[in-house]
Amino acid sequence: MLSTPADQHSLYIDGRFVSSTGDERIDVIDPSTQEVIARVPDGTASDIDRAVVAARRAFESSPWKDTSAQERGRVLFRLAQIVRDHAAEWAELETRNNGKPIVESEFDIADVATCFEYYGGLATKIHGDVIPVPDNALSLALREPIGVAGQIIPWNYPLLMAAWKLAPAICAGCTMVLKPAEQTPLTVLELAKYFGDAGLPPGVVNIVTGAGATGAALPTHGDVDKIAFTGSAEVGKTIMRAAADTLKKISLELGGKSPNILFADADFEASVDGALFGLFINQGEVCSAGSRILVERSIYRDVLEAMVEKARQIRLGPGLDRSTKMGPVVSREQFDRVRSYQEIGKSEAKVALGGGHARGDGLDRGLFIEPTIFYDVDISARIAREEIFGPVAAVIPFDDEDDAIRIANDSPYGLAAAVWTRDIFRAMRAVKRLRAGIVWVNHMQPTFVEAPWGGYKQSGIGRELGKWGVEEYLHVKQVHINLNEQPIGWY
Ligand code: NAI
Ligand code: MG
Repeated sequence: MLSTPADQHSLYIDGRFVSSTGDERIDVIDPSTQEVIARVPDGTASDIDRAVVAARRAFESSPWKDTSAQERGRVLFRLAQIVRDHAAEWAELETRNNGKPIVESEFDIADVATCFEYYGGLATKIHGDVIPVPDNALSLALREPIGVAGQIIPWNYPLLMAAWKLAPAICAGCTMVLKPAEQTPLTVLELAKYFGDAGLPPGVVNIVTGAGATGAALPTHGDVDKIAFTGSAEVGKTIMRAAADTLKKISLELGGKSPNILFADADFEASVDGALFGLFINQGEVCSAGSRILVERSIYRDVLEAMVEKARQIRLGPGLDRSTKMGPVVSREQFDRVRSYQEIGKSEAKVALGGGHARGDGLDRGLFIEPTIFYDVDISARIAREEIFGPVAAVIPFDDEDDAIRIANDSPYGLAAAVWTRDIFRAMRAVKRLRAGIVWVNHMQPTFVEAPWGGYKQSGIGRELGKWGVEEYLHVKQVHINLNEQPIGWY
């Protein structure tokens, strides 16, 4: 167990751990017991400003300004190795702070390393274009780093969300100020201890802990060139408005109400399993959670029964216990929010399983929510339209393929969707018709750093991961080179 003295945590600015200019601190808890395990500074606007000044200086001066793509790649590979060297320790810390089962944290930390490696490899493959133009000229499109990035991340995959932001920005040659979620700042602060060892010059990556107000100082800051945000749609909209005054480039990865569509011809066991995995993994605290489970009417009762039968056996407990399949939700705020949706659900639909918080067996002190399944949910119900971000399923019957697609697309969100069928024609028709940024066929949730991630509609703007992720951190510069030595001769 990591025993970081609670008040040792500070901000990481310009290559050093420094105190906040303010005195406020935030309690960081272990949600399986609600014990305070650390305190971190609640960063001020002037802390953000100091970090932005450091990031600007690092962007405009040597050595970072002149760092080759090869060297940026090596920095990222070293970060990947550092993560692998600390994998067991950081997985444990992630679970203590976020609550998720240790096995899931181990997967997350492995994904963190893979993310740094991917962008380490990509660094040397970023290049521009030569465009054929008339009139004896050379037209070039150069790719340049956008500058100082402000990055605001959530608490559901703490270190992985940090990696999704830091890796492509380092790859592109940007500098950055990252604000972790106030609930889960611990693993990225551990990583920050090794930024120097990885070869990052001071000021390239800065970490400022704090709550929403700390983050709010980034989109309005005149010297920040780009904002990358993952979190609620509500805050995403606030950030978009705030960034308008200085016309910053923004990328937003917001929530969803993703449909998971089960057709009668699908493999029954696999699709039921996929319905549960698609929603209950990570306590349902997943932006792409398959929280609307659409089931063809002919198998509706059987699927519901099988889901309840299996979900009943999900073992709740502290994430550090290896037999735990579902941990507590992250915070009291989130607990209250999910509990209130359970109550709303009871007034809108029928309960097949759960509906409250989990008690007994050592769960009483923690923020444990029962895996909950509502059925016969009307598509206009709040639990069918609003993101709950917890282990609460809305099961909805449909009549045929058209009906399924209509219900699936009837949402303000469009992050992800999944379809279960053995009919390749039906699968491909669904792929084309679903209005979502990610569509899984006969699976739900697998995510690869090589592939694009992001949403349609109110699920966001822009794409993360893969070659798309780095584009968000690059400018395109058009260069025209005249090859005629004569005057233009117009005047
Ligand atoms: P949130 O959107 O308030 O917080 C996400 C991040 O934004 C945190 O780092 C927070 O400090 C920061 N933030 C908050 N207000 C800000 C502001 N005005 N300006 C700049 N940064 C700000 O999410 P919260 O309150 O933790 O959760 C509420 C709901 O949001 C959840 O129930 C869930 O529905 C959704 N959510 C979606 C996530 C996703 O992955 N798409 C992740 C986390 C939450
Ligand atoms: Mg919030």
